[in-house]
Formats: sequence, structure tokens, C-alpha cells
Amino acid sequence: MTRVPRIAVIPGDGIGPEVTEIGLRVLDAVGFEHERELFPWGSEHYLRTGAMLDPDALDRLATFDAILFGAVGSRDVPDHVTLWGLRLAIVQGFDQAVSVRPAKLLEGVRGPLAGRGPEDVDLIVVRENTEGEYAGIGGFSRRHLSGEVALQTTIYSRAGVERTARHAFGLARARPARRVASITKSNASLHASVLWDEVVADVAEEFPDVSWESVLVDAAAARLVLAPGDFDVLVASNLHGDVLSDLTGALAGSLGMAPSANVCLDGTRPSMYEPVHGSAFDLVGRGLANPIGMVLSVAMMLDDLGASEAGRVVGEAVAETCRRGVLTPDVGGTATTAEVAEAIVGAIG
Ligand code: NAD
Ligand code: IPM
Ligand code: MN
Repeated sequence: MTRVPRIAVIPGDGIGPEVTEIGLRVLDAVGFEHERELFPWGSEHYLRTGAMLDPDALDRLATFDAILFGAVGSRDVPDHVTLWGLRLAIVQGFDQAVSVRPAKLLEGVRGPLAGRGPEDVDLIVVRENTEGEYAGIGGFSRRHLSGEVALQTTIYSRAGVERTARHAFGLARARPARRVASITKSNASLHASVLWDEVVADVAEEFPDVSWESVLVDAAAARLVLAPGDFDVLVASNLHGDVLSDLTGALAGSLGMAPSANVCLDGTRPSMYEPVHGSAFDLVGRGLANPIGMVLSVAMMLDDLGASEAGRVVGEAVAETCRRGVLTPDVGGTATTAEVAEAIVGAIG
């Protein structure tokens, strides 16, 4: 008999714990058999111990089948300390090569664009997740002296772009529209983006049944607002994908609606599922955080763990909750986090 899946849970900071609690309720409601362990890592842990993660953290996490992550970031600790100490340590350490970030405007949710409805916003951003400006390469010179210099080196590798593009084209192939937009900036970034373009064009040849175009990132930002229906799957570098996925989350009504999966493509280490949003300092403790980004991340995790029927049920329960108008204020409703959770769990039955 195969063992039950083991899930590591890292609620983190800010509204992270508030939405993670709902994700776990949903996981239980859908009857997904699993074991889980909670890890209290985050900014408070850092302030107590001087480290974001325990020294053996990655070794311990590596024994799990998946990681469910809330958010990290605190007003009391610099962002680069918290993010590199925890979230990016896991993304980089486990070579979670792509971040898959769907954005779908659901029926009942008020989108930000006048005259646009659910038929106009249904796309996925596939973000390269370990390279670019996030490779961690650079340094300071003449630190804290006049003439101080900081260098942040962006790297792109053929292998890194190739695996990202393959994943994007593979996802596009399974969708009705079968379209990819490759996001670039090769008019200015004359090394990294030029390599990006060349590799994407090579990969596209492996997918003759998927149509594709190359779109400059600035133009893509405008077109996403003016004509979101032009887009199906977008494949983007790490930083471009980061920025565009907040935009596409907003197109789905709110950043609070946006789920993601940081995928370790070869499966040698766990993938990590998390809402796209952060700690949301303005919402902490008010009971108003939208839990849907987290709940849809749970659905993505179920899918990847082979429980696609459970994932479908969770997705449908979210859709029904939105149709009924049980929504938090960020998407035009008056419900609390708990009331949205209640509605989703009720719809799961
Ligand atoms: P944020 O995503 O926390 O918030 C941006 C805006 O979106 C805020 O107005 C917030 O209220 C709203 N929002 C976010 N999530 C929401 C939800 N679930 N429901 C309703 N509204 C929601 O981004 P920020 O303010 O730029 O960053 C705050 C902190 O979070 C920073 O420390 C940042 O580094 C960190 N951060 C962490 C992650 C992560 O852990 N994955 C992601 C992004 C930002
Ligand atoms: C995200 C976040 C992170 C990123 C930050 C917090 C490091 O913005 O997941 O989109 O840029 O990867
Ligand atoms: Mn982001």
C-alpha cells in the first residue's frame, strides 16, 4: 500500500496564518487523506532566534510531498532578510523552476475593467522562478561610503528558459485556445532577453499545435488591461512574471483571488503552493482577508498530488461561493474571511 501524502504547512506572517487556516479547513472538508506538520517559521521566529528557518529546515522539508505556504514579510524585519531567509530559500533550494499563476475572473466577482466579464479573463502566467534578478548574484562596493555601488546581476540560462517555456507550451496545449505569449524586453535587454527569445522560439517548434507570439513586457502590461482576452498562457522571466502576475491577479478581481504553484519539475523535491499575495499589513487581524487565493492554491496542490477530483470539487465550491456573492470587500462584497470559508466548506458538502 502506498503511504498517505505528507504536507508541510508554513503559515508565515501577516495574513498568511489567517488564510492558511482556511486552506487547511478546505483540505479537511474535501476528505483528502494526508498527514501534515506545521512549521512556525517566519518573522517572529526570526526575531526570537535570529534565523528565518531552522538549520535543518530544507532537509526536513525535503521529506514532504508538498508545501503549503501562507505569506512572509513583516514591518519589523527588512524584506530581503525575510524573503531570502524563508520563501526564496525554499524556491531556490528545491529548484522550484516555474511558478504557475492562473488568473480567472469568476462569475459573481466584480472585475476592475468596465464592460469585461468572466469570458474576458482566463489566463495563466508561467513565471521562470529561479533565475533573472532572483539568482542572488551581485554585491556592494564601497559600502556606506560616498560613491557606494550596488550590482544585481541578472542571469538567464538556456536550460532555465527551456524548461520554463516547455512547461508553458505544455499547459497551453491542454487548453482550448492553445496560445502562448512570450513576454520579453529584447529591445533593451540585449543579452538575457535575446537568449530568452531564441530559446522560446526553439521550444515553440516542439509544439506546432500551439500558436505563439512574442510581446514586449511594457506593451503586454497595456494590452492586459485593454484586451485581456488576447491572452491565454503567458511565459515570462522571473521579474516580468512577478509584476504581471499581480496585474493579472487584479484582473481576476483582486490579488486575494490569485493562486500559485512553485513547481519542482523533476519531482525530486516538493513543490510549494501559495497565494500570490503577501502579508497585507493593512488587513492583519481584521478578519477580512480574501482566502480564495489560498483555497485555489490548495486545489492546485490536490491536482498535482493526483487528487484531481478533490481539486475540481474545491474549485467548483469556490466558483459557487462567488456566484452566490459571498465575497470579501476586496472583491466588492461584505463577507468576512470566516463567512467565505463557511460558504466554501458548505458548498463542498
Ligand atoms: P500584499 O500582497 O501583501 O498586499 C498588496 C495589496 O493587496 C494590499 O492592499 C492588500 O490589502 C491587498 N491584498 C493582498 N492579499 C489580499 C487578500 N488575501 N485579501 C484581500 N486583499 C489582499 O503586497 P505588499 O503590500 O507589497 O507586501 C506586503 C509584505 O508582503 C511585504 O513584506 C512583501 O515583501 C511581502 N510579500 C510576500 C509575498 C509572499 O510571501 N509570497 C508575496 C508578496 C509580498
Ligand atoms: C511573489 C512575491 C515574491 C517574489 C517576493 C515577496 C520575493 O512578490 O511571490 O510574487 O517576487 O517572488
Ligand atoms: Mn509578487
